[in-house]
Amino acid sequence: MPDMLQRLQDRLKALPDGLQSHIYRVRDVALELAAPHKIDLEQAELGALAHDVCRAVPGEDLIRMAYELDVPVSDVEQDFPLLLHGPVGAELLRKEEDLNDDILYEAVRWHSTAHPSLDPLGKLVFLADKLDPQKAAVYSYQAKLHDMALESLDLALLEFLSREMAKRIEGGGTVHPASVDARNSLILKLKG
Ligand SMILES: [Fe+2]
Ligand SMILES: [Fe+2]
Repeated sequence: MPDMLQRLQDRLKALPDGLQSHIYRVRDVALELAAPHKIDLEQAELGALAHDVCRAVPGEDLIRMAYELDVPVSDVEQDFPLLLHGPVGAELLRKEEDLNDDILYEAVRWHSTAHPSLDPLGKLVFLADKLDPQKAAVYSYQAKLHDMALESLDLALLEFLSREMAKRIEGGGTVHPASVDARNSLILKLKG
């Protein structure tokens, strides 16, 4: 059986071109962030390549796949099924590509919402996804976030979660409980 890197690269070829380009840009950012934080480059590359395997799946299919794969669906996810593309993608890769590395699995699973249990690789994949240069228009503070991420994954993640949660609350939207928990745990960790 080819190794995980080869299997992922083959799998990505079936995704829409724009999504493939995003994934490879995220890979480049992930590799850039990995070095200063002494994160294994191969793990960073695998996490980036794996993170969006289900990003092009329509919402109603994500909900169906979640039930088939025994991925729990919360009310917030039922209302906004796009949030399931990480959890469903992680579980699909576990079943179909033997993704047995828990650190990679968690990095893929929580790359949309973050989670208090995220380890440095998970934080790196999360941030690399938001630091895709093509998302600069979505995140006006992206340049600052990039600099922060090179210095501290925790501070950058906290900055991102605080800004994006404030936007959602301002707009009257829901906030995923894992994002709230992740932000709280970062604040408590950085205080201590
Ligand atoms: Fe994603
Ligand atoms: Fe992504």
